[in-house]
Amino acid sequence: MLDWRTSRETKICGVIGDPVEHSMSPLMHNAAFRKLGLDYIYVPFRVKKEDLKETVESLRTLYVRGFNVTIPHKVAIIPFLDRLDSVAEKIGAVNTVVNDGGVLIGYNTDAAGFLKATKEKGVETKGKNIIVLGAGGAARAISFILAQEGANLIIINRTIGKAREQAVKISQIFQREVGTLPLDRENLKKALEKANILINATSVGMSPNANETLVDSELIKPSLVVFDIVYNPFKTRLLREAERAGAQTISGVEMLVWQGASAFEKWTGVEAPVKLMREEVVKDVGKA
Ligand code: ATR
Repeated sequence: MLDWRTSRETKICGVIGDPVEHSMSPLMHNAAFRKLGLDYIYVPFRVKKEDLKETVESLRTLYVRGFNVTIPHKVAIIPFLDRLDSVAEKIGAVNTVVNDGGVLIGYNTDAAGFLKATKEKGVETKGKNIIVLGAGGAARAISFILAQEGANLIIINRTIGKAREQAVKISQIFQREVGTLPLDRENLKKALEKANILINATSVGMSPNANETLVDSELIKPSLVVFDIVYNPFKTRLLREAERAGAQTISGVEMLVWQGASAFEKWTGVEAPVKLMREEVVKDVGKA
């Protein structure tokens, strides 16, 4: 097995973002490469907005095998890529790029990762009433993939205009109605009465604001499935409230790991060691 040493043939992967220091991806991918004895290395690149175009060209010409894209570049990178897969194109955001001999192809593995996380937990989304809290980049990928799966969606967001904009886009693509509501307790209560699944796709509850939640146990019924995309802390206040109410919960670590696994497989062509990747993340989140 390889240790930290590189060779003359080491393939490079990485993540571009700003900030990028908090990213769990280097930890997760390097552990996976080492475990499988793959001659790859994964590094964080802090890239400022104004340097994005030049950076992407450099990654292309250096034949960096692939990279993840995080805040604030997920949408801005699109014009600099050669091709988009159809899901990334419809979502309008890219989180994974594969460099095929100088041709850059953009994917959105956030969407695939979210779906895989629900399926792994035995949660069916087709035909279910699902509330998506949030209308940012992560929420967009989730709402899109759920509509594609045939879920009945309500998007609830603090800024209602953003929710409406996404609802219109999704309705146009999938010819299905998507509800929207401004975020307040009354609306949450009403929507939760009919909901099967609640997804927090906002950043509320993320460390250091780990004591915040948009929904408390009083609003949650035991039959609800609650998915929080926040993975730090591992068990967010929302998930604790949901457990208290007797509901099934899914941690954001699952989406993080499965989006990473999907990217890993695109770069290496090898099945990702998901269990190990999850253990690495949980170990590190526990430290935070
Ligand atoms: P990301 O790409 O990680 O999804 P983003 O695009 O900045 O990040 O989106 C953050 C989401 O969290 C948005 O839906 C945001 O609501 P607004 O559209 O109203 O800004 C939501 N959000 C962040 N802080 C919030 C808070 N304190 N209360 C409610 N919603 C919040």
